[in-house]
Amino acid sequence: MKEKLDEIRAVASSAIAAAETEKEIEELRVRFLGKKGELTAILKQMGSLSAEERPIMGQLVNEAKQKTEELINEKKSEIKEKATQLKLKAETIDITMPGKAVKTGGLHPLSAVLDDMIDIFQSMGFDVVDGPEVETDHYNFECLNVPADHPARDMQDTFYLGENLLLRTQTSAAQIRTMENRKPPIRVICPGRVYRADEVDATHSPVFHQIEGLVVDKGITMCDLKGVLEQFAHEIYGPETNVKFRPSFFPFTEPSVEVDVTCSECGGKGCRVCKGSGWIEILGAGMVHPRVLKSCGIDPDEYSGFAFGIGLDRLTTTRYKISDIRLLFENDKRFLEQF
Ligand code: PHE
Repeated sequence: MKEKLDEIRAVASSAIAAAETEKEIEELRVRFLGKKGELTAILKQMGSLSAEERPIMGQLVNEAKQKTEELINEKKSEIKEKATQLKLKAETIDITMPGKAVKTGGLHPLSAVLDDMIDIFQSMGFDVVDGPEVETDHYNFECLNVPADHPARDMQDTFYLGENLLLRTQTSAAQIRTMENRKPPIRVICPGRVYRADEVDATHSPVFHQIEGLVVDKGITMCDLKGVLEQFAHEIYGPETNVKFRPSFFPFTEPSVEVDVTCSECGGKGCRVCKGSGWIEILGAGMVHPRVLKSCGIDPDEYSGFAFGIGLDRLTTTRYKISDIRLLFENDKRFLEQF
């Protein structure tokens, strides 16, 4: 019996030493120490021993059980520890590794300049209004004092969508919609896309952007127009920028002007961008024609106003020194990411 016990102990200890998983070790525990386990079975055979042998043998079996249990527990914690180490190793973070950059979007240069312009005009008390890109002949031309046979229609090559529908050629259409819906005092800007059937080149695109401005109140004069536009030019281009008002013609303003600013590329010395003149034209403006006020139900004897239309694309290309307007519409990420 003692030999049998020694044999079981030897088998158990080598099996325990060889075990690699918690499952294996649990199986060994059942096999040796469980209710029907091998060591338990030996205890049951004690009845066949003599009274002297019994306590000695009993002690030996108990010792064997204890020893086996110790081995099993040791092995169990060894396996657990090993698993923890493995897990830790797999989950370590190398804090010296370069991080993953989160890519954030950016504003398109046109949007960035527009945001600045809106800020400037809002600080002067202007509201921002919106108008449709598909307009009627009535709002885009008729009400702006450009009847069907007027030669000024040639100034803007128009995309017609039908007899009376067209893609707006100017944000000036929004002036009329505003005056129909609001009573003076009016102070609004209307930024938006406009369309003209122009040949595409470095400075022309069939789609471009304007910001229309309109002020109507009692006693508004050309001085107000000059003041607002000078203030605007200084904020956008810097206080050292000169502003020049040139007489011009628009059917819906009288008198009309075009406004030039010092070329931001050469500082006024003359360069390729300003074609040697030292000036860049940025907008058209003038005092709202009495006929336009009247067609919107505003009495020109009581009220006067001024309007202006700023070319956003030109402003953006000169500000960021972008040499070709087409770059603004191609949406090449390599280009856009520079801003
Ligand atoms: N709508 C004119 C254009 O597109 C610009 C303009 C706006 C002129 C308002 C005067 C007043 O050329």
